[in-house]
Amino acid sequence: MKGIRNIVVLTGAGISAESGIATFRGPGGLWEGHRVEDVCTPEALAADAELVHRFYDVRRAALATVVPNAAHDALARLDAEWPGELLIVTQNVDDLHERAAAKRMLHMHGELRSALCAACGSREAWSGDLPPGSACGACGAGALRPDIVFFGEMPYEMERIEAALARCDLFVSIGTSGAVYPAAGFVQTARHYGAETLELNLDPSAGSVFFAESRMGAAGVLVPDWVAEVLGWDGSTFRPGRS
Ligand code: APR
Repeated sequence: MKGIRNIVVLTGAGISAESGIATFRGPGGLWEGHRVEDVCTPEALAADAELVHRFYDVRRAALATVVPNAAHDALARLDAEWPGELLIVTQNVDDLHERAAAKRMLHMHGELRSALCAACGSREAWSGDLPPGSACGACGAGALRPDIVFFGEMPYEMERIEAALARCDLFVSIGTSGAVYPAAGFVQTARHYGAETLELNLDPSAGSVFFAESRMGAAGVLVPDWVAEVLGWDGSTFRPGRS
């Protein structure tokens, strides 16, 4: 691929599937018998804080039982070795990208290992259970909640994401169904700015039609192969695109 300098990678639940973290909409896409949408809304939190906090406590605890897979490791290698700009935008709330040592990344839907104060807006690292009424380390209010972007709330760092999409020469989507906006629209934004677009996914997604190229298969196989391909581009290929 000619003139690729700036890359944006979007990841979804599919990149963590081979680590043993269930996806949302695949077979068995219900969590503990709850539909994600029934425990991932401000209304659900207001109606039954115990249920919502416990739902995330279980998922936070499960992080101790999983490890990054070859796809996370490959993206961390890309992060370490790619000389141009790179931003990994994950929809996932697990910490597997970080544990694979990815650095140039952000969580647009929040993180299990973080607590958000509904009173003062500050965040703090959190690893154990987070009962409703837990006290904020900054303001002291008993208002800590899971630092998760619920349906109907604004995803995090959208300005930073949109700026990266406007500059990118290549947009790659990995392991996402393209079911939830704004993430599902990123491919169209990237195309609008003239980027190449590539989808790596187990099955065709709702957005496959928008990608110039789609490769179907397991992320643990496709992503290491793609990263090796990208890092193997010789200097004549890696030509400064947008500076
Ligand atoms: N390798 C690659 N892709 C995979 C694999 C795998 N091993 N296993 C599953 N997939 C693909 C599926 O084909 C599907 O397209 O990953 C995608 C998972 O889709 P979803 O379960 O909808 O997860 P995601 O796209 O991340 O959901 C987006 O929706 O529920 C909300 O906020 C939540 O961030 C989440 C958002």
